[in-house]
Amino acid sequence: MKNNFVVRDINLASKGKQSIEWVSKWMPVLDNVYRQYKTENVFKNKKVALCIHLEAKTAYLALTIKKLGAEVWVTSSNTLSTKDEVAAALAVNGIHVYAKHAATRDEYWSYLETILKNNMDVTVDDGGDICEYLHTHSKYGKNLKGICEETTTGVNRLKELEKSGKLLYPSIAVNDAKSKHLFDNRYGTGQSTWTAITQLTNMNIAGKTVVVAGYGWVGRGVATRAQGMGAEVIVTEIDPWKALEAKMDGHRVMTMLDASSLGDFFITTTGFSNIIRMEHITRMKNGAFLSNAGHFDFEIDIPSLKKQAKSCKVVRDEIEEYLLTNKKKVYVLAQGGIINIAGGLGHPADIMDLSFSVQLGCLHFLLSTKNLVPKVYKVPTEIDRLVTEEKLKAEGITIDK
Ligand code: NAI
Repeated sequence: MKNNFVVRDINLASKGKQSIEWVSKWMPVLDNVYRQYKTENVFKNKKVALCIHLEAKTAYLALTIKKLGAEVWVTSSNTLSTKDEVAAALAVNGIHVYAKHAATRDEYWSYLETILKNNMDVTVDDGGDICEYLHTHSKYGKNLKGICEETTTGVNRLKELEKSGKLLYPSIAVNDAKSKHLFDNRYGTGQSTWTAITQLTNMNIAGKTVVVAGYGWVGRGVATRAQGMGAEVIVTEIDPWKALEAKMDGHRVMTMLDASSLGDFFITTTGFSNIIRMEHITRMKNGAFLSNAGHFDFEIDIPSLKKQAKSCKVVRDEIEEYLLTNKKKVYVLAQGGIINIAGGLGHPADIMDLSFSVQLGCLHFLLSTKNLVPKVYKVPTEIDRLVTEEKLKAEGITIDK
């Protein structure tokens, strides 16, 4: 069957192909999981949809699933993170891809609709938008064997649906696998957030004060890397245990209101809205940088900032300068979207190797297991263990038994 696609510029395909080839060199675990499944027919002629940040590592996952015999449909879970060259490379490689960098919300939902109208067998979601769509248009879920969810925010949404008795499909909390959040959320986001911030700003971090909102897996990673680069780290939290953990890890802990006048860099990592508001922004130092590493772009109250600032202008790639009425300037990176992906290359390839191997294992589980019911399943321990053991093998590490 010929694939359909909507991409920004198909002529970018060769550049996209190069970036997919590069990351594929560092994803041996995914290759090994693929080898375990390739003699089976579990994926053959199945329809698989991916709604996940569309960059090179995701593309390699899509191509791997296609190699297993599936028909693959791809869109991005966040249009700001879409790499147009990668989308083009997928289009010329037989993937049904619907994605453009900076597409509007309406375009985004129309892409999702186009894909899901084709009645998928299994899906990979990143933040819960496929799940939301299929719960309001359940006629398109009639063949659905289940949903794999990539991130904390999406898992939280699934658990709410389950609690209210409204969950319609078997769903797997891929994020909660040890081989996912221990490495991807913490080390992957920790490193790639700082890669993006330092590249976008061209600024030194040593000696600066960094305020990290949230000390979950992502916050811990971002704070640890900042500390390693010589910054003084302030953590804000609402959970008393996490707050105490941050303190014992050597960070200062206080409210956002108190931290707001001290920080040079602010990074939100909570997954919840309006963490940094105007009452904080007006107290900030002249020249403070604001960014977000949480899934949604609502952690910094950009709508109020836009309304109340005297002016806003783009001063550099992915940096907006806001002039406040108190004459101070603050800089918002990547429009408050997910900084490491919208403003950078995303997680390191060898980290996504783990996360996407878990995804492939869970898709295989959904397609090959009978009698699953609508509930949020944990990642089967065999898959979690297999991925970590394959990673140790790839690193040349043997452990005691
Ligand atoms: P988590 O649940 O481990 O941590 C979130 C933390 O935020 C919790 O400790 C919570 O107490 C804290 N928090 C909640 N409201 C707060 C507030 N008002 N002020 C301060 N702290 C508050 O979640 P995790 O895994 O760290 O994920 C966080 C977000 O990052 C989610 O949206 C997730 O989807 C996203 N994520 C982003 C990645 C990226 O590549 N940028 C990778 C993985 C996850």
